[in-house]
Amino acid sequence: MAFQQCIDPRCAATYAVGEVLVDCPRCGNLLDVAYDWSRAAVPQSLRSFEKKWTQRRDPHALSGVWRFHELLPFAPPDAIVTVGEGQTLLQPSDTVARYIGSQPGCVYLQYEGMNPSGSFKDNGMSAAFTHARCVGARRAACASTGNTSASLALYCAVTRLMRAVIFIGSGKISYGKLSQALEYGALTVQITGDFDDAMARVKEVTSELGIYLVNSVNPFRLEGQKTIMYRVLEALNWEVPDWIVVPGGNLGNSSSFGKAFYELKQLGLIDRIPRLAVINADGADTLYELYENRGVRWEQGLADLAPVCQYYDELDAKKRKASTIASAIEINRPVNLNKCLRALEWCEGVVRRVSDQEILDAKAQVGAGGIGCEPASAASVAGARLLRQEGEIAAGDRVVCILTGHQLKDPTATVAYHTTDQAEFNQVLGVRGVRRASFANRAVAVPNDLSEIIKAIQLYS
Ligand code: F0G
Repeated sequence: MAFQQCIDPRCAATYAVGEVLVDCPRCGNLLDVAYDWSRAAVPQSLRSFEKKWTQRRDPHALSGVWRFHELLPFAPPDAIVTVGEGQTLLQPSDTVARYIGSQPGCVYLQYEGMNPSGSFKDNGMSAAFTHARCVGARRAACASTGNTSASLALYCAVTRLMRAVIFIGSGKISYGKLSQALEYGALTVQITGDFDDAMARVKEVTSELGIYLVNSVNPFRLEGQKTIMYRVLEALNWEVPDWIVVPGGNLGNSSSFGKAFYELKQLGLIDRIPRLAVINADGADTLYELYENRGVRWEQGLADLAPVCQYYDELDAKKRKASTIASAIEINRPVNLNKCLRALEWCEGVVRRVSDQEILDAKAQVGAGGIGCEPASAASVAGARLLRQEGEIAAGDRVVCILTGHQLKDPTATVAYHTTDQAEFNQVLGVRGVRRASFANRAVAVPNDLSEIIKAIQLYS
């Protein structure tokens, strides 16, 4: 019933679920997990998933991923690996609505920071681990800007199914994320270079040593990430929003969201597909450059992707490396580019890029509304604001911004924003181009003296 299939319609080669592949052996393109839905037990209505809420002592019903098992039926129930991922929240936020210029009640934040390892990655990791268990893998690896590695390390530590090997670049990785990998006991390999270098290497190493790769080139991982969209729909009483806005790094999320909606539409479970906005950081804007400036499109898989190679050659010639405060999306060669182009076609998508300044200001506004997030996540809010200013998103459109990671993942960025003198700002953050902290909440320094403290509180509160 489930199989793997090359996403290039000219190839369309199929492979068994039991094969461990990260690209099509015949043509090199990415693979999907595909299903013969006529043989699957797909419910008549999405509403039927609600009955799982009454069975929450069953770990498969509790999991925000496996509650939707019928929509990712690639493994039998007894193979499922879950650590309770996907207990996440869709939070309406009028603070953010005001900030981006939308009507009250129209903006929602899908808070994936509530996952066990603090980011959306756990949705995908539980699916990848389920597949890894089916194929009997003993070691798993990833390259990471921090969250995939935290998630992999956590799943290894909790389940003891595999040993984790993680590759990180020598550049930016936030301490919150690094601390997780170290504490959960992953073998951590720091290589000279950035994420793009680490990604290229881990592919070689895993193929050479037969280690199971859990980066988002693994098609099973993306099946788990589809469920973020099912939970958004569920929280909206199964009504389809107008926009999904998501940060774009390696482009796994955007790819999986497109697939989730495409499949639901094919299955007759929704009647329309929301529009998708993928937001790059200015300093890591490959998708934006290719899609919006060079007009690269999926064209039902028939597109000429030569401009992509040409762009990468240009990056190499200029020795241009990705650079942004949003270290999670500091990626110049997104591995899921082709799948994301397909998702943009399915969802009538747009791509925008936002500056580090806009990201940090948006992050402060998200935090002011009570749900903190890490810098990369706030790119979604900064992007939604830009799209509102352009009029692409209307004031009354229902907009869901995906907050991909927890606020505590990157305390350095947050504390620097709120406390650092303007002159030192960029030095502390290790980036250029951030000029002001528009929403800084500065700490008040007072001598250790009762009357001075009382005076300060009365002055500032
Ligand atoms: N937001 C956060 C917090 C992330 O950690 C990532 C990716 C993204 C957004 C981008 O998502 O790759 O699906 O477009 N982090 C990866 C990692 C690369 O290694 O943790 P994407």
